[in-house]
Amino acid sequence: MSNWTQLRKLADAGLPPLNDMFAGDATRAESMSFQVGGIFADFSKQRITTDVVQALLALAQDKNVAEKRADLFAGLPLNFTEKRAVLHPALRGSSHDKATQKLVKDMRTRTRKFAEDICTEGKYQTVVHIGIGGSDLGPRLLADGFAASGKPALDLRFANNVDGASINDALAGLNPATTLVVIVSKSFGTQETRMNGEAARDWLGKFTSDNMVAVTANKDAAVDFGLDPAQIFEFWDWVGGRFSLWSAVGLSLQLAYGPDMFDDLLAGAASMDAHFQTAPLEKNLPVMLALTDIWNNNFLGLKTRAVVPYARRLRKLSSFLQQLEMESNGKSVTTDGSASVDTNPVVWGDEGANAQHAFFQQLHQGTQITPVDFIAVLTDHENRPAHTLALLANCFAQSEALMRGKSEAEVRTELKAKGLSKSDINALAPHKTFPGNRPSTTIVLERLDAHTLGALIAAYEHKVFVQSIIWNINAFDQWGVELGKELAGTILSELQNGETAKHDSSTSALITRARNAQGGE
Ligand code: F6P
Repeated sequence: MSNWTQLRKLADAGLPPLNDMFAGDATRAESMSFQVGGIFADFSKQRITTDVVQALLALAQDKNVAEKRADLFAGLPLNFTEKRAVLHPALRGSSHDKATQKLVKDMRTRTRKFAEDICTEGKYQTVVHIGIGGSDLGPRLLADGFAASGKPALDLRFANNVDGASINDALAGLNPATTLVVIVSKSFGTQETRMNGEAARDWLGKFTSDNMVAVTANKDAAVDFGLDPAQIFEFWDWVGGRFSLWSAVGLSLQLAYGPDMFDDLLAGAASMDAHFQTAPLEKNLPVMLALTDIWNNNFLGLKTRAVVPYARRLRKLSSFLQQLEMESNGKSVTTDGSASVDTNPVVWGDEGANAQHAFFQQLHQGTQITPVDFIAVLTDHENRPAHTLALLANCFAQSEALMRGKSEAEVRTELKAKGLSKSDINALAPHKTFPGNRPSTTIVLERLDAHTLGALIAAYEHKVFVQSIIWNINAFDQWGVELGKELAGTILSELQNGETAKHDSSTSALITRARNAQGGE
């Protein structure tokens, strides 16, 4: 019997409720949790038994996760549809290839010197970081995360969307003379970034040559844009956009928080690379994150996963993971071109405790079951110890409530004790009942510093990779974003020049409506 079939059988046979699993095994929490550096991960509230874990591990072995992991760190061209190696671990020193190591080291030296010089000169007050997708979400997550360790030396603003509000808000109230604009785009061809870059260039005017730099893997395009090679920091086509925050893409963070903090981030990620490569699969954080997600998705039929960090400074984590996971593994074709099994669940979420007051009603009592990744931080970084305790209490309570639930009998006893009539109890009890048995993983960070953040992000990167191996898909391309971009190009010409292309009647009518609103024919 294949491991897949074995897992299917285990799921179909039904599992004891989580409450019973805990009641029947006093060691469950301990045996299903482990520590990796400053990160503690507790998988015991997942609906997994020892048999399920063994079968999932056998699946990982069968799919050659260990061998493919070695291929990743050896720099093999895993992104075969684009004929590219996948070397993001090399950006944090986890690579055996001397030539790549040198490229990375030289660029680190250059960005460090640039950041130090800017700090010494004291000319700038603000950095405006322009980029979108992988050139934006990672840096934004870091900008928030780093703030737990102190104030930035420079004000850091972001412009991502092609909506004019994005660049307008970013530039509002700034002085071009004291603003450094950093344009980040791997391709340097992304519409949103180019338009925002052009707007910033116009706004900078005579200051452009001193106050604008670019980070890109397409140096020629940045030169064509009008930048001097000395204003361009490169990264390489072997770094996927959503895996690129470790490269010069993180320049704005180095400028705002200093290169040392950025080095800590890289060291944290490198420590997770080492853990991923050496830890046994059952105590391997990326592997266990991947396997429990696969269990929920492919075998328990749970098609979304919420990411809820109980840390305001990690509030961008769910958006970051949305791109990392959904752009990487939102595929339906295997490496040999055939149809795949179900791949990535929908990833979504928001910061706790705010999320409790928005969508947790559905998590507790809705008809769909949504597994949750809870992320908590033990240390008080805000000099508000009472707030920290309240935040932690909320986080732990939610995972307990989702798992434990509240039976109708318990509710009836409570309502009776409150003196409600029998008919009121009958009417109210079903509404106040919680089914429970809803799975979650809790990740606890000892502190929110650059090192731990680096390790956490790297853990999710490797999780994505492990899942792609098991689903047999290419995690490193993103062809699915192209069709919409192409059509947008055609529609933009129609909006600008009144040209007409062939569309369905809905799209044609929408284009006409927009042209009319802009005063067109
Ligand atoms: O459209 C998707 C995408 O290509 C992402 O993969 C990428 O992170 C983003 O656009 C931005 O691309 P670039 O860095 O080339 O501007």
